[in-house]
Amino acid sequence: MKTKILFICLGNICRSPAAEGVMQRLVKERGLGDCFEIDSAGTYSGHHGQLPDPRMRRHASRRGYNLTHRARPIESDDFDYFDIIVAMDEGNRRNLMQLASSPQQQAKIVMMGDYIVKLRAHYDYVPDPYYEGAEGFELALDLLEDACGNLLNDIINNKL
Ligand code: 4NP
Repeated sequence: MKTKILFICLGNICRSPAAEGVMQRLVKERGLGDCFEIDSAGTYSGHHGQLPDPRMRRHASRRGYNLTHRARPIESDDFDYFDIIVAMDEGNRRNLMQLASSPQQQAKIVMMGDYIVKLRAHYDYVPDPYYEGAEGFELALDLLEDACGNLLNDIINNKL
């Protein structure tokens, strides 16, 4: 049975589609592509159907990620379908906790920041780069690459 991971941010055009791309590559590199289903969504629906923000696509492509996800809002079925729902920041987590309809669904919500290790002294969440410059997008990718590796290790080691 596949482990199904859903990454969540606000607009689903910057952080969560990048997290999806980072994790997709990581599981492929480790030969685990068949063991995982990875997707992303937003708590805000204003960008529904859009490709990731051109700035995020540009910064990600420099690291070899081709982001082709189309933005979508999270749906109630996602809380049953996915095993792990990963929030990028506290605002996302609060929104998710309100949208979840049972304690079982709420228990699937984890914080991406809990898996940041290398940059932990500075960040315990993934800041929204939408209103930032180039460095905000680079930082988001640095944090996502850091956290995805640790999240995957915890899943593989059955801690999640
Ligand atoms: P994301 O970034 O949550 O990382 O996709 C944002 C994208 C769009 C908006 C805010 C944050 N917005 O306000 O439209």
